[in-house]
Order: sequence, then C-alpha cells, then structure tokens
Amino acid sequence: MTDHVLELDGVDSGYGEVQVLDDCSMHLDSDEIVCLIGPNGAGKSTVLKTVFGMLDPWTGTVTYHGEDIGGMAPEEIVRDGIGYVPQTDNVFGSLSIEENLRMGGVARNDGLDAVIDDLYERFPLLDEKRRAKARTLSGGQRQVLAFARALVMEPDVLLIDEPSAGLAPNTAQEVFGHVEAVNDMGAAILMVEQNAKEGLGISDRGYVLDQGTVRFEGEADSLLDDDEVSKLYLGGA
Ligand SMILES: Nc1ncnc2c1ncn2[C@@H]1O[C@H](COP(=O)(O)OP(=O)(O)O)[C@@H](O)[C@H]1O
Ligand SMILES: [Mg+2]
Repeated sequence: MTDHVLELDGVDSGYGEVQVLDDCSMHLDSDEIVCLIGPNGAGKSTVLKTVFGMLDPWTGTVTYHGEDIGGMAPEEIVRDGIGYVPQTDNVFGSLSIEENLRMGGVARNDGLDAVIDDLYERFPLLDEKRRAKARTLSGGQRQVLAFARALVMEPDVLLIDEPSAGLAPNTAQEVFGHVEAVNDMGAAILMVEQNAKEGLGISDRGYVLDQGTVRFEGEADSLLDDDEVSKLYLGGA
C-alpha cells in the first residue's frame, strides 16, 4: 500500500510492436508538481499517454489512488479525476472559449455552470473573451484555456505535456505561473518539459527519462544541482 495519488510500477509500453517505455517507475503525491525531463524521443509523452489510457501498459501497473487503471479508457480515466493537456491541438480553434470549456465538461453530471463561473473568476482573460474563437487567442492564452478546459472536471491529477513549447521566454514564465496556480487549486501535476531548468524551477521533484527508462530522480533542486544531470540534460556544466 502507498499513499501515492498516481504510481507507475515497472511499466513497459509503446506503439504497435515498438517498445518505448522500459521498466518505467515513478509516482506523484497529492499537492506535488513533478517534472519529467529528458531528450527528444525519450518517451516523456508516452508516459502521459500510458497514464491517460491512450496506450495500454504491456507489463507493469499504473495505479491511481491505489486502483489499477492500466487498460481503462480515457473517458473513464477523466471521470475518475485525471486530466490531460496534450502538447498540441489542446483547444478547438473554431469554437468559442465558452464552448471549449463546456466541451471540457461533457463528462460531468452536474455543477457545470458553477465550475465554469469559478474558472472565469480565476482566469479573467478567459472571462473577457467568452465569445471569442479560441484560434484568436495568443499562444500563452491558449495554454490557459487548455488548462481551464481540463479543470472543468476538477481533476485530482493533471498531466501536462510541454506547456511552454513554442512560447517566448516571458510568456513561458507566465504559463509556468498558471501551472503553479492550478496546483494551488488542488491538482497534483505531472508535467513534461523540454525547458528543463524552468520546469524543474517550479517543481517539487523530477525524473529524467532517457530511452524509456528513468535515469535520475529526486528533489527538483538536487537535480538542478547535480553535475551529471546538468551536463547531460540541462545543457550546462
Ligand atoms: N504514434 C506513434 N507511433 C509510433 N511511434 C511513436 C508514436 N509516437 C511516438 N513514437 C515514438 O516513440 C518514441 C518516444 O516518443 P515520445 O514519447 O513522443 O518522446 P518525447 O515526448 O520524450 O519526445 C519516439 O521514438 C517516437 O518516435
Ligand atoms: Mg513529447
């Protein structure tokens, strides 16, 4: 028994015959922000897809609040309280902000208006643009909408894939601020980041994934201070 909100234990996973994750183990506790870093193609997005039920683990287990969710469908996983913000195509550009938020809540049985009102209060930029098409938002604003859309289900866990990808540095900083705000609202966050230093900078702990296997793990600060991690994965001495 553990009290981890989310845990992967010895997970192999991949696409068709192609194995990507190899004996991958990691966990997330409530209130945490955990950052997953590593080179391109390491399998970071594959971890999130495997947790979210888009891929079934070949071996090993994925547990959420102690329940084995490996092999469950994404819509069941969403109802259980795990949200997922993919790296790309995470909002519907041709729909309004309001319509995007309502789409995020189709699996809710009740309370949709109240939760959307609450999100408008937390994210005034969305409130001001309720009727605007999502495609008219800037890159940073679109990420905020994507977070809010996932938050309509009031998840315990939010999986976020490279929230700062393609954003200018100051916009990326704003988006990281929103990630912290989402965490303060009560969601534990497992975040993939290419922008490793900044991602670890707002995180409690981190994992370095390389070729589908966890090579390093620890407190975010100790990973940032580790000479080997720094040299191999943070682009610095
Ligand atoms: N849909 C897919 N079909 C087949 N192979 C894929 C697919 N998506 C990713 N891969 C492969 O899986 C490996 C890991 O990809 P990914 O998890 O996206 O890496 P990362 O997010 O760390 O950059 C890569 O070699 C990639 O080419
Ligand atoms: Mg990726």
